[in-house]
Amino acid sequence: MTKPDAVPTTVPAFPPAFTWGVATSAYQIEGGAADDGRGPSIWDTFTHTPGKITDASTGDVACDHYHRYAEDVDIIASLNVDAYRFSIAWPRVQPDGSGAWNEAGFDFYARLLDKLAEKDIAAHVTLYHWDLPQALEDKGGWLNRDTARHFAAYAAEVARRFGNRVATIATHNEPWCTANLGYGIGQFAPGIADPAAAVSASHQLLLSHGLAMQAMRAQNVSAKLGIVLNQWTASPATDSAADLKAAEVEWARSVEWFMDPIFKGSYPQLALDNIDCSLLSIHENDFNDIRQPIDFLGVNYYFRAYVSTETPPRTPPCALGTTDMGWEIYPQGLSELLLKLHGQYQLPPVYITENGMAVADRLEDGAVHDQPRIDYLKMHLAALRQAMAAGVDVQGYFYWSLLDNFEWNSGYLRRFGLVHVDYETQQRTLKDSAHWYRNFIKEQ
Ligand code: FCB
Repeated sequence: MTKPDAVPTTVPAFPPAFTWGVATSAYQIEGGAADDGRGPSIWDTFTHTPGKITDASTGDVACDHYHRYAEDVDIIASLNVDAYRFSIAWPRVQPDGSGAWNEAGFDFYARLLDKLAEKDIAAHVTLYHWDLPQALEDKGGWLNRDTARHFAAYAAEVARRFGNRVATIATHNEPWCTANLGYGIGQFAPGIADPAAAVSASHQLLLSHGLAMQAMRAQNVSAKLGIVLNQWTASPATDSAADLKAAEVEWARSVEWFMDPIFKGSYPQLALDNIDCSLLSIHENDFNDIRQPIDFLGVNYYFRAYVSTETPPRTPPCALGTTDMGWEIYPQGLSELLLKLHGQYQLPPVYITENGMAVADRLEDGAVHDQPRIDYLKMHLAALRQAMAAGVDVQGYFYWSLLDNFEWNSGYLRRFGLVHVDYETQQRTLKDSAHWYRNFIKEQ
């Protein structure tokens, strides 16, 4: 296969039925943190704890999307996209994570769905994009099996209300991050730094996925149901036996750890042999619960894992440069990843649910000239098209993100949007990349 190691001048055409979209998540854009009965989430607690967020910011206001959703849907429609991926904030619709529903919270998402329908934009919903109700964290969060049960009840309620109005519902967004960044190293909420806890959390997250799938299926909804995983291939830095082995372990720990339980009903032995399982508690029926058929797999791709066992470790070559996050730009990793997954699992239809680039954008005379983002898009779409030509059933692509937004522990310092946000005035400005994406989609 030829590798896109330079910016293609034209990107090959995509099938007519291919879905084009943009993505966001609740905590990163909504704001309205205390509006209309929303309860606190672990991200409210975390951002209000000094020292956790680089620019000491919070999602209290963010892009004020809670109040500006109609304008934002108009912007989405102006991009010619077919679909919008967003998440529901669990604490907005169930402030304590169990017990009473908050009707005002559900009303917000009902209004958003009305507006999307008016513009003929399909809704792709994620149930959990990291904003756990704080009341559940107070009882152990994802270290407590009860959280999985509560999550399934929340999933059933969303499916009951919206399951025939949306195209897809994903249970989780990137449970690897929830477990490893939230519980393993404490870089994300709830800020726990215990590798054994991360392994335990990942099991309850997978269990919650399986229970939620069953609870939603029982509602007989038309929405396709699945999960979104962040994935990468693991490239050994050298041909040394140690690097080759370490790369295999990395693949097992990050990708197979989430794929195997869902597709095969077990954890990969290589991972079990290489992680601290002292807090992992697998009950008898758990794998039956987790191994539920999924209608689609969402893949979020940003970079590859570059695996080196030397001290200090070798760093990736970054032949195409890095993003403003410091992430290596490695488009061929997207096709490599998809082909490897395709070879290893019986994949359902795949959506690229996130892919995108942070750029140190500047608004000048009402415009943002973000050529690096356009190049990034072209290279990744070319790589994606190659994987499709080689047989992977990919049905859609969602750019991350629609808007500049609250980038977790980096706060507002990293801009991923196709649309620039001035956080002082909340003014939105389409960047050059937004114009490029709009025209590209039009030509398909
Ligand atoms: C992903 C997250 C998303 C965003 C991008 C840059 O890991 O799902 O919310 O922060 O990274």
